Amino acid sequence: MPLVTLTVNGAPRTARVPAGASLLEFLHDGLGLSGVRLGCEDGVCGACTVLVDGRAVRACTITAASCAGRRIVTLEGLSSGGRLHPLQEAFLRHGALRCGFCTPGMILEAAALLDDPRAQVTRRRLRQIVESHVCHCGMKARILEAVEDAAIRMGRLK
Ligand code: FES
Ligand code: FES
Repeated sequence: MPLVTLTVNGAPRTARVPAGASLLEFLHDGLGLSGVRLGCEDGVCGACTVLVDGRAVRACTITAASCAGRRIVTLEGLSSGGRLHPLQEAFLRHGALRCGFCTPGMILEAAALLDDPRAQVTRRRLRQIVESHVCHCGMKARILEAVEDAAIRMGRLK
């Protein structure tokens, strides 16, 4: 199996994965990053969502090799300087998780929007993000509350 090196959470990380492995396999199986969830592996559930150059990407839908030279961020790398991201704080404040399986993907896709100063943030767009992920625990109403609260506190939504 070939060795693959990618920039993950600000540092070069190397793992041995099968030729043609997905980014999900590299991060979850190769590096053991548990914040990258192994869900449907078909681009549907959103559990494997990570940031690639600041954009939300479902890691099961692209190869690891295609991410050479790009910046990958997982939930493990979202906080900075020991401080949680406002979205993480809002999820805790609103109790917006039960089993937590869907949480990293929900937070990272919302972060891609809220952290992009050029992006237009609307309640409709936030709802679309939450709806595009599967939550088996029925927490979507609280998740949406948390995402909206974070957007308001970040000055991205009125
Ligand atoms: S595991 Fe990638 S979208 Fe479900
Ligand atoms: S909190 Fe369990 S799947 Fe969403």
